[in-house]
Amino acid sequence: MDLKRQYPEIRSYSETLCQPLKTEDYVVQVAAFASPAKWHLAHTTWFFETFILHPHLKSYNLYSTDFAYLFNSYYNNAGNRVLRANRGNMTRPTVEEIYAYRKYVDKAMGQLLDTEPANDIKNLILLGLNHEQQHQELLLTDIKYMFGQNPLFPPYDVQTTLSYQEKNAESGHVKIEEGIYEIGFNDKGFCYDNEHGLHKVYLDEFEIEKGLVTNVEYIEFIDAGGYSDFNLWLDEGWTWAQVNHIKAPLYWHKIDGEWHHYTLKGLKK
Ligand SMILES: [Fe+2]
Repeated sequence: MDLKRQYPEIRSYSETLCQPLKTEDYVVQVAAFASPAKWHLAHTTWFFETFILHPHLKSYNLYSTDFAYLFNSYYNNAGNRVLRANRGNMTRPTVEEIYAYRKYVDKAMGQLLDTEPANDIKNLILLGLNHEQQHQELLLTDIKYMFGQNPLFPPYDVQTTLSYQEKNAESGHVKIEEGIYEIGFNDKGFCYDNEHGLHKVYLDEFEIEKGLVTNVEYIEFIDAGGYSDFNLWLDEGWTWAQVNHIKAPLYWHKIDGEWHHYTLKGLKK
């Protein structure tokens, strides 16, 4: 693993993803299950500070003892934390301070990487980088959710090259035979701890479509009574749709009789 190259590349990509945001966009939390962009930027930094720098770089001084509390997610071993639903109430520390925190931690991480750390520390850094990338996905998901709830449907970035699959590469079904299958990570390289524990599972025979369901196919489902005929649902899904008054997929809006969907580039037909 080439951590000296990977570390700055992956860390700076989180900041690149935030470039289209204005300061206000970093702070709000539009649902309890989403986190503000500012929080993602700080929490991923907290991970390096708490689990790598604090225990493994002798000269390291914590940027702020408050941050250890503010940006813990759910690591019980790392102490108390702010309730998840309250992450959007923190207008302080400011976005500017969070960027300063990232700079401070990245500088110290550069010093640690220059010392050619032992393998167990390198593995922790690799975990931190994978954690950061996991949060990059969450960051985009949460940004899309935030803008997608805004009545103006502001685009995240009209130029973004982040795209979604427009057409299925494959069509048709694939049949999976009944039998015993092995699941779990069984290779060299990085994996999360919850992928460990290679074990066998029994599967009944089933068929599954090779490609994703397209929007055109989904409109056919809606037009065929998809949200009014309980025969098209399993009970749990039908109850969920009724309780939450679901009439279309998230991000879908019927405007003047035509379906539109919200994307990172804005509202599209
Ligand atoms: Fe996390």
